[in-house]
Amino acid sequence: MKNKEMELVNQELWESHAKWWQENFSDGADPEYEEQILPIIENWGMGHTSVLEIGTGEGQVLRRLLSTTPDSLRLSVGLDPAQAQVKVAKARTSGATFLRGIATQLPFLPDCFDLVVACLVFEHILEVDEAISEVARVLAPNGTFIFLLNHPLLQTPGSGWIDDHILMEQYWRIGEYLKEDVSIEEVQKDVFIPFVHRPLSRYINLLTRNGLYLQEMLEPPPPQGFLDQAWEYREAASIPRLLAMRMTKR
Ligand SMILES: C[S@@+](CC[C@H](N)C(=O)[O-])C[C@H]1O[C@@H](n2cnc3c(N)ncnc32)[C@H](O)[C@@H]1O
Repeated sequence: MKNKEMELVNQELWESHAKWWQENFSDGADPEYEEQILPIIENWGMGHTSVLEIGTGEGQVLRRLLSTTPDSLRLSVGLDPAQAQVKVAKARTSGATFLRGIATQLPFLPDCFDLVVACLVFEHILEVDEAISEVARVLAPNGTFIFLLNHPLLQTPGSGWIDDHILMEQYWRIGEYLKEDVSIEEVQKDVFIPFVHRPLSRYINLLTRNGLYLQEMLEPPPPQGFLDQAWEYREAASIPRLLAMRMTKR
């Protein structure tokens, strides 16, 4: 399947499964968001005046920024292709504008935001070159790009904790890291979501080519609330699930 066709499948699946995302990962339901993801974005987002969130979902990232930096933020815009996300984002959030749209065609003039956020979105975007070039286009010079991904080295397809009772070995298996890969995963019964895996160098070289330079990178251990959910998680407590990068446009 070509990237453009797959992108349409991606958007249809997110439309159908928006409720699954909202129930399990927003509004306080997910310890990784509450204890790790939202605090990182809040910390790095402070002091900016105009923010665009790409793939905003039901708006929790913008709500956090609006509640912690109400004095500085003059413009907050969230964009998502799924009507079912945009509708809930509008109902749950005041002080922000939510629009339907995709990362590869941002309906904004050049240089018009001093902060762009993409949180756990690029692993669903097929046309990554176009999407990063759009981030660079709408971000003002010296603006910040906050870029969060499921860790591309340690959370590749096929990665996971192995408890081998025959060889009496326990280890974290790394999947096929160097291979770019699109897979549709059944994340819960009857819930299918497409994931794109890319090596980290693919992202960093693309960002650099577009004038987006790394200032800070975090690979935090999974937070306590996540580790407490199941005993097996504790075995992999030193394997990060998240990669968070703060970039500046030069
Ligand atoms: C994992 S959710 C993250 C939502 C939000 N950023 C958050 O952290 O709460 C991914 C979101 O990306 C959106 N998405 C999928 N493909 C996209 C695309 N090509 N452009 C923009 N957003 C997209 C989905 O509709 C979904 O709402």
